[in-house]
Amino acid sequence: MKIIVTGGSGFVGSNIVKVLEDHHGDEVVSTRVDMTDADAVAAHVASSEADAVIHCAILNDWDAMHADRHAAWAAYVEATRYYADAAADRDIPFCLVSTDWVYDGTQQNATEDTPPNPINLYGFLKAASEIVALDRGGAVARVSGVNGTHWARPTTPRLQDPGFGYFVASLVDSLEQGTPFTVWEGDDINSVASPSLGSMCGEVMRSVVAGGHQGIFHCCGSESTSRRALAEAAVAAFELDGSLVNYGPAPAESFAGQRIPHDTSLSAVSTSERLGTPLPSVAELLRAFRHERETGELARLR
Ligand SMILES: NC(=O)c1ccc[n+]([C@@H]2O[C@H](COP(=O)([O-])OP(=O)(O)OC[C@H]3O[C@@H](n4cnc5c(N)ncnc54)[C@H](OP(=O)(O)O)[C@@H]3O)[C@@H](O)[C@H]2O)c1
Repeated sequence: MKIIVTGGSGFVGSNIVKVLEDHHGDEVVSTRVDMTDADAVAAHVASSEADAVIHCAILNDWDAMHADRHAAWAAYVEATRYYADAAADRDIPFCLVSTDWVYDGTQQNATEDTPPNPINLYGFLKAASEIVALDRGGAVARVSGVNGTHWARPTTPRLQDPGFGYFVASLVDSLEQGTPFTVWEGDDINSVASPSLGSMCGEVMRSVVAGGHQGIFHCCGSESTSRRALAEAAVAAFELDGSLVNYGPAPAESFAGQRIPHDTSLSAVSTSERLGTPLPSVAELLRAFRHERETGELARLR
């Protein structure tokens, strides 16, 4: 297939690109086109001869989003509209990459048909973008607790944040250097989620667009976990020194003014049944991440 991937230089996008190229032999078009420029997006998709579009790019800047609500709306909802419309005009599948943060954090094990109830601007913009994608006959792939390698910038150190993304990489980076690592705990951060692996998410999205599927899909493994349990599992999987791990509250500045969903656990059972994609355990996801980190090659989850 020939597939347009927006945000291919980012963390999740680089995993999608690598899966499409290395596992499926797809031709990937990941040229950076300003997603807020309607004419540029329409011209790009119209001239690409692509078979599908996966829209993963994002304005990933919390301060900028809050400082300029118009720019934030344009970069999320309008950009989704431009790509979804352009894909619909060519009658090719469209998949929007979304998030478990469309939930408020009280619902637990949300299924693909649990209605969103976002509690912050990011979640709201992603939920609004989902509606646009679905209204235009597209698909939504919600990723959660994304771990793995940033294939476009593999050596850039990762930092823990109030979400679950990068959590394992930040812990492993620290412990491999013999540096103590404090696992943040508290009611005011994302404390429970369903981990995934970036490449695994890419495989789900490949199945979605290859099958021309519509609707909502969840990209995560079979288990939800707390930050503490995930840290303990990562120490075991990467054979690290667990005595360097401490537990404590997140520094207040790391989430100042933010409302963060507490438990964003998802169920991907329906997605797995629909697409035939695997539902790995946390241990299997961590083994696969270690393989990717140490070999530079994608793991195959079954
Ligand atoms: N990371 C996670 O744990 C996580 C969790 C849940 C959901 N997600 C979802 O995954 C997707 C990607 O997130 P990420 O963490 O991979 O983000 P990221 O690493 O910050 O990558 C963002 C990408 O978007 C591109 N981009 C930014 N502004 C653009 C513009 N105006 N026009 C075109 N491209 C633009 C960036 O390109 P440049 O670098 O060239 O600016 C980059 O390739 C998002 O939809 C996000 O909601 C991620």
